[in-house]
Amino acid sequence: MTNRERIDRLEREKQLAKEDWVQLLSTFTAEDREYAAEKARKISTGIFGKDIYFRGIVEFTNICKNDCYYCGIRRSNEAVSRYRLTLEDILECCQEGYESGYRTFVLQGGEDGWFTDERMEEIIRAIKERFSDCVVTLSIGERSRESYQRLYDAGARRYLLRHETASPVHYAKLHPAVQTLANRMRCLNDLREIGYQVGCGCMVGSPYQTADDLAEDMLFMGEFRPHMIGIGPFIPHSQTPFRDFTAGSVETTLMMLSLCRIMIPEVLLPATTALGTVRGDGRQEGVLAGCNVIMPNLSPLSVREKYMLYDNKVGTTDSAADGMARLAAQMEEIGYRMVSGRGDSPRMSK
Ligand code: 5AD
Repeated sequence: MTNRERIDRLEREKQLAKEDWVQLLSTFTAEDREYAAEKARKISTGIFGKDIYFRGIVEFTNICKNDCYYCGIRRSNEAVSRYRLTLEDILECCQEGYESGYRTFVLQGGEDGWFTDERMEEIIRAIKERFSDCVVTLSIGERSRESYQRLYDAGARRYLLRHETASPVHYAKLHPAVQTLANRMRCLNDLREIGYQVGCGCMVGSPYQTADDLAEDMLFMGEFRPHMIGIGPFIPHSQTPFRDFTAGSVETTLMMLSLCRIMIPEVLLPATTALGTVRGDGRQEGVLAGCNVIMPNLSPLSVREKYMLYDNKVGTTDSAADGMARLAAQMEEIGYRMVSGRGDSPRMSK
């Protein structure tokens, strides 16, 4: 089978055999990528038109108990100056975002034990009370099922938890032994059963990753069928054990994004900050590869430098309004427009 035939088959059957994934992901050419991107773009505009949804990320704590080898805010990085935002800080970020048209707030943070269920419930309820037409998305890592349920009951409706890699052997090369793929999967399944719109995803080009691993990611995502998928290139951070590895390939990232769109047509697919970091027009290219979401930063400017998951992260100097204006201009350049609104998954609107 040629790669074009594999892409056609994916469009028809919404999944490929493992061996076809491996072949496709290890041998695709620039022409194959354009072929996939064109299909992905058509599928995306067929469902979402030229509308790009935007979500505001509030990075409310950079304190983390985990020690992921790739991540700049890992526990062992003693060079990071740690912070927590107060409820008032968080509400202020949302207010600023609300005025710029944001209707989804993503509370993202390290796994910080200070943010107990009680404290998270208070934050979620306060945001829902003040901005009743907005959605609260959480991106706060692994917690118990009971905790996920409580946060759902407090009003959170979406949850982002990248699986990072669907191969247990590769997972163990990126994380200390106490962090397991099995628990990550337990979390993703609990979140979905509770009723969240769930996002998973992975890095492309992380250390020790093979085409086989990427094939496992596609197999997993095709089976799990998440509402959202976050995929970005690995980017080394100078204060982590992976400082000397090279960044992941933009081309492979774009190919993976297009294939995700073809495999799960209605998926909400952000052109990630990491993509915009490795290449100035990365987020435009992401949209042209089939992405339909952008997630600008709403964190206070004073803390942005402290939330560096990788080196040279973009968007650390723009205010909410400036960042929005810049992205809106970038989208217009390629014939798309940023639209306000909740931007729920077409599969579920709660
Ligand atoms: N390069 C790219 N992405 C990273 N993330 C963490 N560290 C890095 C890095 N060095 C991603 C992880 C995590 C998300 C919040 O950021 O996939 O789930």
